[in-house]
Amino acid sequence: MAGDSHGSRDRRLLEPEAAPGEVELDHVLRPRTLAAYVGQRRVKENLAIFIEAARQRGEALDHVLLSGPPGLGKTTLAHIVANELGVNIRVTSGPAIERQGDLVAILTNLEPRDVLFIDEIHRLHRAVEEVLYPAMEDGVVDIVIGQGPAARSVRLELPPFTLIGATTRQGMLTSPLRDRFGVLGRLEYYTPEELQQILERAAVALGVEAEPDGLAELARRSRGTPRVALRLLRRVRDVAQVRGEGRITLAMAERALTLLDVDEAGLDRNDRRVLEAIIDLFDGGPVGVETLAAAISEDVETVEDVYEPFLMQKGFLQRTPRGRVATPAAYRHLGRPLAKGGAAGEGGAVGEQGALFS
Ligand SMILES: Nc1ncnc2c1ncn2[C@@H]1O[C@H](COP(=O)(O)OP(=O)(O)O)[C@@H](O)[C@H]1O
Ligand SMILES: [Mg+2]
Repeated sequence: MAGDSHGSRDRRLLEPEAAPGEVELDHVLRPRTLAAYVGQRRVKENLAIFIEAARQRGEALDHVLLSGPPGLGKTTLAHIVANELGVNIRVTSGPAIERQGDLVAILTNLEPRDVLFIDEIHRLHRAVEEVLYPAMEDGVVDIVIGQGPAARSVRLELPPFTLIGATTRQGMLTSPLRDRFGVLGRLEYYTPEELQQILERAAVALGVEAEPDGLAELARRSRGTPRVALRLLRRVRDVAQVRGEGRITLAMAERALTLLDVDEAGLDRNDRRVLEAIIDLFDGGPVGVETLAAAISEDVETVEDVYEPFLMQKGFLQRTPRGRVATPAAYRHLGRPLAKGGAAGEGGAVGEQGALFS
């Protein structure tokens, strides 16, 4: 399958980033309260306590950092927090804030206790990020008025506010920024049961008739990701409508998943391209992530944030000091014979001890 072209249709199917047009549907399907937010128990319990305490004291909630792969519910959770606090949410993203002045304008326009949501906060420009430090810590910003010798610095008091940052890669945050968050929430991949619950609710909201085992099959093959599950639901609904009687049965789900090229383990074509490249082009690895990304014409960030976390969770890929390695499970899954000295040992022990590479 090397050199196989992949149209934008395929790319979009399991792409955890929201596609244009999905945003409105997102709006309908988004839970509005913590109680309606499925799964992520630890994060939810933590937030519930902090929210309640802040509400009782009439104070702003401490700053919250949400991290995890795309599509797991970070944006949804930020809106829920604002909703539960009964305050406004102002939404922006790291790359969108170009100058210090832009951030100062946003901060000084907040109402007391408001939530400021900065998506992709690891991509903030360094100079802009520096404005955040005193804002988060002491509730002030320092601005420079005038130029040259007449320039002077003026300190502005900000209304108390809550910063909610979202990131797909907590490791890329600078430590001064990370240290200023009081609440850290790391989102995990969802279980099939949790995804099924999300799908059942969505099916009702969308007015789709679906049988439980049909939804269970979708849930099992959704990369542990609600956005992917909801996207599959909509695609399967189309297939069911055109090829069946509009009802999502197990057979219909299986048929649609085959059409969409989602395999038994829930891997899509792009996931498989990663594994195939490691096995077929690099003898199972180790291969550096830059080389790997170049071989499949992807950028490193997408490989690291989107494909790898899921492949690692599935036990198909390991990150070692020398690079990425395909596991024996990956060989088996793709039906490749195990190369001599090829794949890393099961469970990661061999790779970690470096025995393979000596
Ligand atoms: N815990 C959850 N319960 C129900 N629906 C969820 C949950 N998490 C995410 N979703 C749904 O999945 C989609 C993607 O969530 P989103 O918050 O945009 O993810 P992220 O910001 O992490 O990329 C949204 O349509 C949202 O409604
Ligand atoms: Mg988001």
